[in-house]
Amino acid sequence: MKIGIIGAGNIGGNLTRRLTALGHDVSVANSRGPHTLTALAEETGATPVPVQEAARGAEIVVVTIPLKRVPDLPSGVLDGAAEGVAVIDTGNYYPQQRDGRIAGIEDEGLTESRWTERHLGHPVIKAFNGTYAQDILDRHRPAGAPDRIALPVAGDDEAAKAKVRALIDELGFDTVDAGGIDDSWRQQPDTPVYGLREGVDGVTKALAEASPERPAAFRG
Ligand SMILES: NC(=O)c1ccc[n+]([C@@H]2O[C@H](COP(=O)([O-])OP(=O)(O)OC[C@H]3O[C@@H](n4cnc5c(N)ncnc54)[C@H](OP(=O)(O)O)[C@@H]3O)[C@@H](O)[C@H]2O)c1
Repeated sequence: MKIGIIGAGNIGGNLTRRLTALGHDVSVANSRGPHTLTALAEETGATPVPVQEAARGAEIVVVTIPLKRVPDLPSGVLDGAAEGVAVIDTGNYYPQQRDGRIAGIEDEGLTESRWTERHLGHPVIKAFNGTYAQDILDRHRPAGAPDRIALPVAGDDEAAKAKVRALIDELGFDTVDAGGIDDSWRQQPDTPVYGLREGVDGVTKALAEASPERPAAFRG
């Protein structure tokens, strides 16, 4: 499958590693340009591209950059993607440590992914946001393994969500349907499921136990 990855840091780099190992055709971009991605390209066989080209022809695009940088993405960044492209958003809002105060989230009460999709102009599927980057490399397991962990996946587009869940299964993780993007506060930072390494039952329970109130440490 042709997959575009926007962001080549902890998460983007490790998804590039695993997805190329599985035989996917991966294009990867960062903010500084493809010439800064030669080591990752040599290691993985991924194609480094300018950010404007990352989505070209892609059936799945992963947006995995710090939340505060989302508005910096060029307009039309998803233009040229394959019809029906699924856009994965791995983002989290860390107002005090990284992102500063984002009014749309704090004042309008948008979920983090709803805010992101408004900037992108395209629906997103929220996944991997509570997954330790290293776990993408170290914790994948075959289907049915007793210690296989599950990831919550939220999104409004059911076809795109199914495509993303199938890819995550291929990557070696179970998934739990966490509802639509308006429900995705259940997997935001500091919720019970955030960073949880458990299977389907544990993740399902943790999603149900989440509180919609944003904790003080995650307010700007
Ligand atoms: N780290 C984790 O374990 C983890 C786990 C789950 C979710 N997340 C979330 O996933 C997102 C990414 O986290 P991360 O830890 O992978 O970040 P990171 O290591 O800081 O890497 C960020 C990447 O985004 C790129 N980038 C920044 N602005 C960009 C722009 N305007 N256009 C294109 N690329 C841009 C950076 O490129 P340059 O270096 O060239 O600027 C860099 O490759 C965050 O929202 C984070 O909260 C992280």
